[in-house]
Amino acid sequence: MQDAQPKTIYLKDYQVPDYLVDSTDLHFELEPKATLVKSQLKIRRNPKAGQGLPPLLLDGIDLELLSIAIDGSILPEVSYQETLQGLSILVDKPEFILEIHNRINPEDNTSLEGLYLSNGMYCTQCEAEGFRKITFYPDRPDVMSKFTTTIVAPKDHPVLLSNGNQIDFGDCEDGRHFATWEDPFAKPSYLFALVAGDLENVEDTFTTSSGREVKLQIFTEAKNIGKCEHAMRSLKKAMSWDEEVYGREYDLDIFMIVAVDHFNMGAMENKGLNIFNSACVLASPETATDSAFQRIESIVGHEYFHNWSGNRVTCRDWFQLSLKEGFTVFRDAEFSADMNSRAVKRIEDVSLLRTNQFAEDAGPMSHPIRPDSYIEISNFYTLTVYEKGAEVVRMLHTLLGKEKFRKGSDLYFERHDGSAATCEDFILSMEDANQVNLTQFRHWYSQAGTPILEVTDSFDQATGRYSLKVSQSCPTRANQDKSLPLHIPIKIGLLDVDGNNSILNNEGDIEEVLEVTQPEQLFEFSGFREKPLPSLLRDFSAPVKVRYPYTGKQLIFLMRNDSDTFNRWDASQRLAFMALTQLQQDYRSGEALQLQPELIEAYRDVLKDSTLDPALVAEILRLPSEQSVAEMNDLIDAEAIVVARDFALKTLATALAPELLQRYTALDHQKPYSPNAKDIAERSLKNTCLSYLAATEKDDALNIVQKQFETAGNMTDSAAALSALINYGSAPKVDSAIQEFYQRWKDDTQVVELWLGLQSSSARNGTLANIKNLIKHPSFEIKNPNKVRAVLGGFANRNFKQFHKEDGSGFFFIAEQVVMLDKINPQIAARLVVPITRWQKYSDDLSGKMREALQGILDSGGLSKDVFEVVSKSIN
Ligand code: ARG
Ligand code: ZN
Repeated sequence: MQDAQPKTIYLKDYQVPDYLVDSTDLHFELEPKATLVKSQLKIRRNPKAGQGLPPLLLDGIDLELLSIAIDGSILPEVSYQETLQGLSILVDKPEFILEIHNRINPEDNTSLEGLYLSNGMYCTQCEAEGFRKITFYPDRPDVMSKFTTTIVAPKDHPVLLSNGNQIDFGDCEDGRHFATWEDPFAKPSYLFALVAGDLENVEDTFTTSSGREVKLQIFTEAKNIGKCEHAMRSLKKAMSWDEEVYGREYDLDIFMIVAVDHFNMGAMENKGLNIFNSACVLASPETATDSAFQRIESIVGHEYFHNWSGNRVTCRDWFQLSLKEGFTVFRDAEFSADMNSRAVKRIEDVSLLRTNQFAEDAGPMSHPIRPDSYIEISNFYTLTVYEKGAEVVRMLHTLLGKEKFRKGSDLYFERHDGSAATCEDFILSMEDANQVNLTQFRHWYSQAGTPILEVTDSFDQATGRYSLKVSQSCPTRANQDKSLPLHIPIKIGLLDVDGNNSILNNEGDIEEVLEVTQPEQLFEFSGFREKPLPSLLRDFSAPVKVRYPYTGKQLIFLMRNDSDTFNRWDASQRLAFMALTQLQQDYRSGEALQLQPELIEAYRDVLKDSTLDPALVAEILRLPSEQSVAEMNDLIDAEAIVVARDFALKTLATALAPELLQRYTALDHQKPYSPNAKDIAERSLKNTCLSYLAATEKDDALNIVQKQFETAGNMTDSAAALSALINYGSAPKVDSAIQEFYQRWKDDTQVVELWLGLQSSSARNGTLANIKNLIKHPSFEIKNPNKVRAVLGGFANRNFKQFHKEDGSGFFFIAEQVVMLDKINPQIAARLVVPITRWQKYSDDLSGKMREALQGILDSGGLSKDVFEVVSKSIN
């Protein structure tokens, strides 16, 4: 828990470490409540750190210190001091062996940072600053060391794993056993991992491009061993992909993945020993949805790709987090795009960015992809650092082109292999490999906020000249400096009256990347007979908002004709947003609500278009979420948003019922399940049709839903039907479906998580009362983040309607849970509080209630740094 006043850490204060650690020898004797850790560090004064021998500062939290020795002699108490953050040791020589013994308590470690127990299995999570909860250490990423790890444990924990290669194992005299692992690559402490448990594994091999054979293993509890196949297949695909696309080969003889039920995030790229949230590894057709299959593929890829972008080249300090995360998210997104439908992957990623990252960037925690300061670094594993960070890397890719980007990345890996780098190093490699100047582009790393591009155009009939005027601005928050103009790639096309792409230049290109660098800039095109219609920001070439005065007609035209699939979808989103805005206004001014017939017909056309990828049809049909509408509004009127969206949904469902039923029926073939792109696309459309049909709340529609629920042969169809029932079905049937589903799946952790989530995101009145029961249900576990995310996160983040009740009950409930959770798991508590921190954007009634809930949290006292930072930055 926090000190009196939590300290802010600044990027500008960075200093190289005073001491380096050449080797780290760890020895663990595992006991649930009293694990003994012995560490032997070969320490040396850093020649780059200046004169003299300053005290050696080691980080350490919740550790029981047993002894300290230097070069074999026990240190007297006058030579060291224990502080709140760790240890300060007086040093009188530039090189020495430091040996520390300490004790830790994995069983009581509910923060899930450091060494902890999950269903009786020992495991670790050290990023970002968890290693200091294992032993005293310079726990910072620029201290890289070679690790050797010995694990001693009782034999009911037969599997003992750590990073690198196993070099020894055997029995101890007292009946326990041990294993010793050696990692030949120097690494920072945050990449350390240890696992001990009663686990089974599936095994495979991969032969690298240079012909080395790598052993691949996925470890789980025995009951889950049948659920590893998809992750294994994904791993092998990722390994080939990184060789082909980036020329990166794997570097150890063994690569292991372990599935763990209690985990704060998705997964962790520990060298040679990735540790995964079970939900991001385990899948079978009966138990996992299509989106779970796809998430597994992308996260397995993500963690594997970190072996180069993160491990071989790591981060100098945590302000550089986006160096590894932004780049690696870009890599995994391209991997997923290559393995599945590129357009659909892009649409999903952009939806997430627009709905959640844009909101983050407009809220109290807004920060650049390379933050300047933090109180608790765990709070900065954000959509901004990850997703916007990936968009910034994507812009480099767009500006340089594929070949030059690859040259830049090759140079980056070559220059910085085996060391800790900065975002600046990455940009420099891109510049030096290609002789380009990215000075202005660098502002993307230091400026927060979502830029807005205002685009207007004009056409001169006499000369055939068409011009686009682009002005950029960026809303800044009070505590930020005024923003400088950014270097923004805008990919465009110009459509003629027939919907074809016009030729844009002498090279005959039909698409161009405009480079916006000025506050206001004019782009001219010639040779037109009629005024073209611009298709702007194709493929979402920059993380910005584009404003252009499209008419509804023009948007429908783009929806039908744009050759850029992403922009076809985007046109549908703009159109829907226009309609929803109008409905909100009409509701507030007491006018009768109605949906334009042209809009309904445009949707009908899309639904009937059998030439379009079914997944794209599904994406276009899906109305923007309430949350994404809220993000687009300057002032959020939650009730009006809910009314408008409900009305639009029901109206479309009723008007399109015959076509929805037709498509549903045509797609409802009982094929054996396979998670391939084509089948996923078909299920996606089928289940989108199903949920629209359910929204009519007509008996025959609900009968179809009920039938799908009863006969579904895979979890995608089963969950879609259950969700439709929960939201639209009639009470007795819904209750029995919920019970039936639970009885069938109660022993499957992943399915139970899904089941909890579907209930907590139900738009039905009474959901909050149901949630209060769910947290008492035997399947709920407050110490398990997945369960917390399913129930409490599902309510606060994916249940716009019930969470934003005007009496504030949703906010006060979440606030109460945050205070309680903060004592158990600060990282998870700090995530859960976020939805109530954006009070400034809400209309008065809700805004006041949110503030009140926040104040209650602050007043409760004794907050962790995590929750304190998020709440105090929001309320001040
Ligand atoms: N490096 C991991 C990943 O993105 C994330 C781990 C972050 N963990 C944390 N507790 N903040 O792949
Ligand atoms: Zn990552």
